[in-house]
Amino acid sequence: MGNSAISVKALKIELSKIKDNALLVGFFKDRLILNAELKGLDRKFGGIIDSCIKDNSFKGERGELKGIYTDKSIKNIVLVGLGEEDKYSLEALSAIIADSSKRLRDNGTESFSIFIDSFKNSKFQDKELVEKITLSILTGLYKFIEYKTKDKDKIKYIKQATLITGSGNDFEKEIKYASVVAEAVNKTRDLINTPPNVATPEYVAQYAKELASKTGLKCIVFDENQIKKMKMGCFIGVAGGSALKPRLVVLEYYGTDKKQKPVAIVGKGITFDSGGLNLKPYPYILNMKDDKGGAVASIHIIEACARLKLPVNLIVITPLCENMPSGTSYRPDDVLTAYNGMTVEIKNTDAEGRMVLCDALAYAAEKKPQAVIDIATLTGASLVVLGYVGTPYVCTNEGLRKKINNSSAKSLEKLWEMPLWQEYEESLKSDVADVKHIGDEGEAGVITAAMFLKYFVGEIPWAHIDIGTTVWSKVDKGMLTKGATGATVRLMIEMLREWK
Ligand code: BES
Ligand code: ZN
Ligand code: ZN
Repeated sequence: MGNSAISVKALKIELSKIKDNALLVGFFKDRLILNAELKGLDRKFGGIIDSCIKDNSFKGERGELKGIYTDKSIKNIVLVGLGEEDKYSLEALSAIIADSSKRLRDNGTESFSIFIDSFKNSKFQDKELVEKITLSILTGLYKFIEYKTKDKDKIKYIKQATLITGSGNDFEKEIKYASVVAEAVNKTRDLINTPPNVATPEYVAQYAKELASKTGLKCIVFDENQIKKMKMGCFIGVAGGSALKPRLVVLEYYGTDKKQKPVAIVGKGITFDSGGLNLKPYPYILNMKDDKGGAVASIHIIEACARLKLPVNLIVITPLCENMPSGTSYRPDDVLTAYNGMTVEIKNTDAEGRMVLCDALAYAAEKKPQAVIDIATLTGASLVVLGYVGTPYVCTNEGLRKKINNSSAKSLEKLWEMPLWQEYEESLKSDVADVKHIGDEGEAGVITAAMFLKYFVGEIPWAHIDIGTTVWSKVDKGMLTKGATGATVRLMIEMLREWK
């Protein structure tokens, strides 16, 4: 993993006694003053902080960084601008900490300390602060270097981040929690970033199996023959075009009374989506290794829940296959029979995600879970509705909707609900089969895809999260690093942490 070497720890120590390469101190633009502790520190370093404020070379603008080189016990005192206090939030904090960590790393710093009291605000609690700071450092510093062979010794790393705490708390629990979440996010990124010639359905299934045995999860991997016998006709149809055989992975975690119904998570696992016979043209065919993002996130969500011993029962179901063009591919106009017996008319082989999910969702529903949540890189249309900023979702149940919105706010992963108005069903009417899998004009793409999936979950409370756009980042900014983002991992763990 790109940053497995970093460790975050908390330390109760007077500021003037710190020995480190750098110390981050936060300042609000409208409160550029030194408290008693900072005054003590400043005195030790000859008043350099105070003079930076007085001569206006540091203004406290949001995201501003002013490094003061001392070559003493703290080699660099870094003043960090937090902007105006009333506009400050945990989101602003997370972005600032992640960007500062990246800057320090890229400048060759190997360790740094953070004076966390200076990043505080009356709006949030110390525990949240520590959790978010830890998470921002660990996810912000992520890099994917697995396939680099040259100049590996020149790659810069941060090895240690120390949270300097003034209060009596040791924050061990919060740091541990955030570290497990960050590891789940970063391992999700690693596996999604792994190229499609390596991360095949078999590879991902084997990966899940190994992770399950390390974590004590129950894991069953179904092979092609078993999937055929189970009559998952849609999944088998999609997988048919590839020389690689499909796998269905089922993982189970019991964190509470076994009699309590589980929450089911279904993840789309297309290890490469070429579009099939409706082949994607260049450049749309690029990055289609990220089409396994839902499955990979699901696997790491259940792993993290088990490591954190969250009091909830979970079942994860991930259909894994490739979508490829060949003489054995499924075709437009084919009619496939799903696991629940419904017949589906194919119109575009590139709308394969809903075809593997419909079987997996029907299978999940059969387990009578208390709720089903699917995570899928389902549509390019997700870019149209919310851009790169947020993730569209749909939901059929008020309680589940509240949970999602609440954990979205807490995890800082932005989600927005789309409606499931009945009119959208019209476009899925088929002349020959029970349903068509897409509408004729591609209108309301996120919703019609969801409308199709809805046929397979029955009455069970259900949410569908479309990470088609947010699975991938084009920028290195804040907690994002170019490549896979680990979308939904923070959200889902937050939701399951408080599941009732
Ligand atoms: N995996 C894609 C969705 C996707 C496209 C995600 C681009 C991220 C970026 C999915 O299988 C797909 O191709 N969907 C089609 C559906 C269409 C044919 C109805 C789409 O969204 O274009
Ligand atoms: Zn597709
Ligand atoms: Zn796809």
